[in-house]
Amino acid sequence: MKFFIDTANLDQIREAHLLGVLDGVTTNPSLMAREGIKGTDNQYRHYVEICRIAGGDVSAEVIATDFEGMIREGETLAGLDPHIVVKLPCTADGIRAVKYFSGKGIRTNCTLVFSVGQALLAAKAGATYVSPFVGRLDDICEDGVALVADIVKMYRYYGYTTQVLAASIRNTKHIIECMKAGADVATSPLAAIKGLLNHPLTDAGLQKFLSDYHKVNG
Ligand code: E4P
Repeated sequence: MKFFIDTANLDQIREAHLLGVLDGVTTNPSLMAREGIKGTDNQYRHYVEICRIAGGDVSAEVIATDFEGMIREGETLAGLDPHIVVKLPCTADGIRAVKYFSGKGIRTNCTLVFSVGQALLAAKAGATYVSPFVGRLDDICEDGVALVADIVKMYRYYGYTTQVLAASIRNTKHIIECMKAGADVATSPLAAIKGLLNHPLTDAGLQKFLSDYHKVNG
C-alpha cells in the first residue's frame, strides 16, 4: 500500500518524507489556498518545490471546469515536472479530459468520486488513480470505506489497472480500514500517518528495555 500525504504544506511534506515511507503527495485548490499561495506562477513554483521534496507522484488539480480549459491547464501542469499527476474532477468534461490525457501518456487522478459508477467511468477513461472521498461520505452518514471496498472489488473483477487512492482520510483508523479494503494508496494528513506509530505497549516495552540496560550498565 502506498502512502501519500494530503497537503500543500512544505514542512509537513518534508517531515513525512524524512520518515522514509512517503510515496507521493495530493493537493487540491483548498489545500493550496490554506498555504496562502496566490497567483498561477506562484502555484506552479509551489508544485515544483513539492515535487523536489517528495520525489513521488504529486497530484496537481486543474481549476478549469470545461474540457478545453482542463486540457490547456493539465498540459501545463504535466509539463512542470515529471512527477506531476493531473488531477481532474469526475464530471463529464473531467472524464473526457482523463481519456484525452490517457491517450497522450499523461497520468491522471480522477477526483471527487463518491460512487462505484463514477469509479467505473474513471477506469474506462484510463485514469491512473481514482480518488473516492472516504471522510466526506462518512460526514453525511454514508460508508466511505465500503465504497473503497466496492471499487477495489469491481476493478479486480474486470481487471482495470486504475489504482484506488483512498482520499479524504481523516484519521489513522481510516488508513487501516482502507488498507483492509484493498486500497492501493491512502492519502492522509500527516497526523493520521504518524498515528500508525502509536502503541502504548511499544512505549512501555522500550522503557523497560532501557531501564533494564541501565540497571546493569549504569
Ligand atoms: C484528495 O485528493 C483531496 O485532496 C482530499 O483528500 C480531500 O479531503 P477532505 O475531505 O479532508 O477535504
